[in-house]
Amino acid sequence: MDYQKFLAGRTQNIKASVIREILKVVSQPGMISLAGGLPSPDSFPLEIIDELSSLVIKKYGSKAFQYSATEGFPALREALAAYLNKKEIRATADDVCITSGSQGLLDGIGKVFISEGQKIAVEAPTYVGALQAFNSYGPEYVCIKTDDNGVIPEHLEDIIKLFGIKLVYLVPTFQNPTGRTLPLDRRYKIADIIQKYEVLLIEDDPYSDLRYRGKPITPLKALAPDNVIYTGTVSKILAPGFRIGFYVAPPELKTWLIRAKQGVDLHTSTFTQAIAAEYLAGGFLDKQIKKIIALYQPKQEAILEALDQHFPKNFTWSKPDGGMFIWVEGPKGFDAEACYHKAIEQKVAYVPGKYFFTGPDEGLETMRLNFSMCDADTIRKGIRILGDVIRTFS
Ligand SMILES: Cc1ncc(COP(=O)(O)O)c(C=O)c1O
Repeated sequence: MDYQKFLAGRTQNIKASVIREILKVVSQPGMISLAGGLPSPDSFPLEIIDELSSLVIKKYGSKAFQYSATEGFPALREALAAYLNKKEIRATADDVCITSGSQGLLDGIGKVFISEGQKIAVEAPTYVGALQAFNSYGPEYVCIKTDDNGVIPEHLEDIIKLFGIKLVYLVPTFQNPTGRTLPLDRRYKIADIIQKYEVLLIEDDPYSDLRYRGKPITPLKALAPDNVIYTGTVSKILAPGFRIGFYVAPPELKTWLIRAKQGVDLHTSTFTQAIAAEYLAGGFLDKQIKKIIALYQPKQEAILEALDQHFPKNFTWSKPDGGMFIWVEGPKGFDAEACYHKAIEQKVAYVPGKYFFTGPDEGLETMRLNFSMCDADTIRKGIRILGDVIRTFS
């Protein structure tokens, strides 16, 4: 039978995630993976989760397993409002809504705000999962120019004027894939621009708690609350298996996002929301963030030192104050994807950077390296091998 005929016209926009394909390859035994974006399993607070699971069953009984409100479990919304207030985001429990991972919100954004052919502005490079979520709704991407400090506000203003952009998607802090962070002065400028042109900006913030140096920077949501939908997740500060993301949107838009979610999954798991609520309200988070930082900071130091030691001098890389990624740029003509295949033969994996760009010929010489999964010695070994592969290859 011709199964293609069953597919809707828009279905061809749904592309397989190349990174998921790469992750299948890297799960082979003996592979040193600098490829994934996974938190270290050593960071998961299993004993606390065990205790809180029993507590939730005692406290809520069958309610923890019943259908619940699309907006989210009230105790979790309450606890997240307190968490967000500490980040200078003014939100009540009523303002906070829960999604199935922040990925769930990104799909909702596509469904509610993106029309076929609409031009939306994204960083170049940007988070590939956002592109995958948005692609189903057929947007055209306009790339905002970036430098080592993230997007250049003046260029954002130019493209808003030129293309009548209404929607912007940014990961302003410890960005995936580059690790870059937008400094405060640029945040003020961007807040002014989106207010002046009445633009809606999605601020995707999974990494700001993973800060190894320096002070937290005010989120865009705090600077332009009426123009920003802020989304966060417990994936990097508790565990991704909970599938809990959250967002704060202007009330007029929140209504639509809730309706869109109703059609997808009615609500996020009541049980995991109840555990996350107890985890936040029980004060476990501060200790957990300290634990994660103590785990990741030496890994980041190890990868940066190893890059200095083993990578050719004509390669450059980001040196972020936090997050889980280092972005490497080779010289013009270096083919990071062809190199990836050679590296796999030597049992080291990374993600070629081109997958984080919207255009076909961009970022060919770039690579994303993750440092949260492997231990420091394995990272050093992986970078040494990769340095050798690059030398023999280029
Ligand atoms: C920038 C960014 N946004 C969203 C997500 C999705 O996170 P979640 O597990 O909450 O769906 C990720 C995951 O890696 C990410 O890097």
